[in-house]
Amino acid sequence: MASNESWLSFPDAPRIVHPPPGPKSRALLESQRQLETTAIGYPHYFPIAPKVARGATIEDVDGNRFIDWVSGISVLNLGHRHPKLDAALRAQADGIWHALELPTEARIRFLKTLQEALPGAMRGHARIFFTVTGGDAVETAVEIADHAKGRRGTVAFSGAYHGMHGGAASLTSGRRYRASNSFAGGHVVRVPYPDPYRPVLGADEGAAGTIAYLEHLVNDPHSGIDPVSSVLVEPILGEGGYVVPPDDFLPALREFCDRHDLLLIADEVQTGLGRTGRMWGVDDARVTPDLICIAKSIGGRLPLSVVAYRDGVVPELPRGFHLGTFRANPLALAVGAEAVKLLGDEELLARTRHRGARTIERFRAIGERHPALGDVRGRGFMIGAEFVHDRASRRPWGERAQAMRAALLARGVLMHTAGAWDQVLRFMAPLVIEDELLERGLGAFEEALESLDATPEPARSGGPSRRGPRPTELRRPVEHAVPVPGVPPVPGPTLDERAATGRRRG
Ligand SMILES: Cc1ncc(COP(=O)(O)O)c(C=O)c1O
Repeated sequence: MASNESWLSFPDAPRIVHPPPGPKSRALLESQRQLETTAIGYPHYFPIAPKVARGATIEDVDGNRFIDWVSGISVLNLGHRHPKLDAALRAQADGIWHALELPTEARIRFLKTLQEALPGAMRGHARIFFTVTGGDAVETAVEIADHAKGRRGTVAFSGAYHGMHGGAASLTSGRRYRASNSFAGGHVVRVPYPDPYRPVLGADEGAAGTIAYLEHLVNDPHSGIDPVSSVLVEPILGEGGYVVPPDDFLPALREFCDRHDLLLIADEVQTGLGRTGRMWGVDDARVTPDLICIAKSIGGRLPLSVVAYRDGVVPELPRGFHLGTFRANPLALAVGAEAVKLLGDEELLARTRHRGARTIERFRAIGERHPALGDVRGRGFMIGAEFVHDRASRRPWGERAQAMRAALLARGVLMHTAGAWDQVLRFMAPLVIEDELLERGLGAFEEALESLDATPEPARSGGPSRRGPRPTELRRPVEHAVPVPGVPPVPGPTLDERAATGRRRG
């Protein structure tokens, strides 16, 4: 092992001293079960009680140390306890903690830092609107677009996840989330996201099928849609399974929006701030959106989100256009300004691109030895490993991805699932993870795969489907959680609920 004095992480991870969940974790999980709503999901996927964390590692109350490839769903792009973020927090903690919308020094520093980090033509030429969560930012962005265009409604993609706030939930594709949304959001036109592995509108034509379909929707007076104000897109599908669209997709979408006087809203909540090895997910395509939604890592681990919109595309917004007591919390702004500065560092971004490409190759090489790994794709540290029953049919194998999550946890690596059938394991380590921990995690990944390969798949009948499970398959319950001794399992959703909803988190 190289000298690890400079490591941010615990150097001995993964370290399992009490197979998770250990006794202390079990006690806390049980208390949580008694006190908290059954609606929580993560304790079922990762039944551990965290105590401290450093860099890309977490120690639980039983002394187990895990390699963290979840990053709080991309909140921790700079890892846990980055010393510069901790210092910014301590400095602001001696100042003001809550200031409504009044201009603190932290607020102005944050605004200036973010302005200089925005994508393309937006840089230095935008207005910033503070919100608190990713969903809040998306909802606000759509409302701003509606206001700007004097029309109500947006185009959103299947597989999209945009949050659980009222309007944002109606843009989210999962049925269950939309069903629990008592606030009827704007009118939403749903279009298939171009997925090279599971194409719906044309396999080999890049984005052409999607754009042709969009043209039909807006040009044909009988297409059945009312005029919309905007197109809302994730540059890479996040919760939908880390789907990287064809290279021509975002530029074609930009042109489409320009042709039809629509505003392009980029939801960079998961792709933004270095995750893809560029500051923004749109950067690779050299596309500037009209509005951008930013959250997760922007508060340097504290809740903060923003919408930024290009100068000139939105008329002056009326005072109080969209409100929220906790917007622009000064602590989050102070730490967030430092986070934006650190994440925009070209050296860190180049390193993320380089190590991300190498990690994709490593996953692919592992896949050559394990046919259940049907597809590996991604950019930077946003990598999806999709599990299938067999490569010819591409029939999604959610149970295998979920079993992998459990097998990895037992080996001290945290890795979460995504995708409509929960069939994709996603690599989203903090960008600051040490190379050696990356290697140890990959070793654990292959070991976990080998252990599961040794377990035969239950026999099943019938032919495969490229697009997803067949109806009979949808009724089987999902094996999604590591059993916690002494803690009664919360009944897992069935696959038809999953397929209907795509279980989400965020
Ligand atoms: C792309 C995207 N948009 C919006 C959200 C919602 O963010 P939040 O959970 O902060 O509301 C998420 C959450 O994962 C996301 O991935």
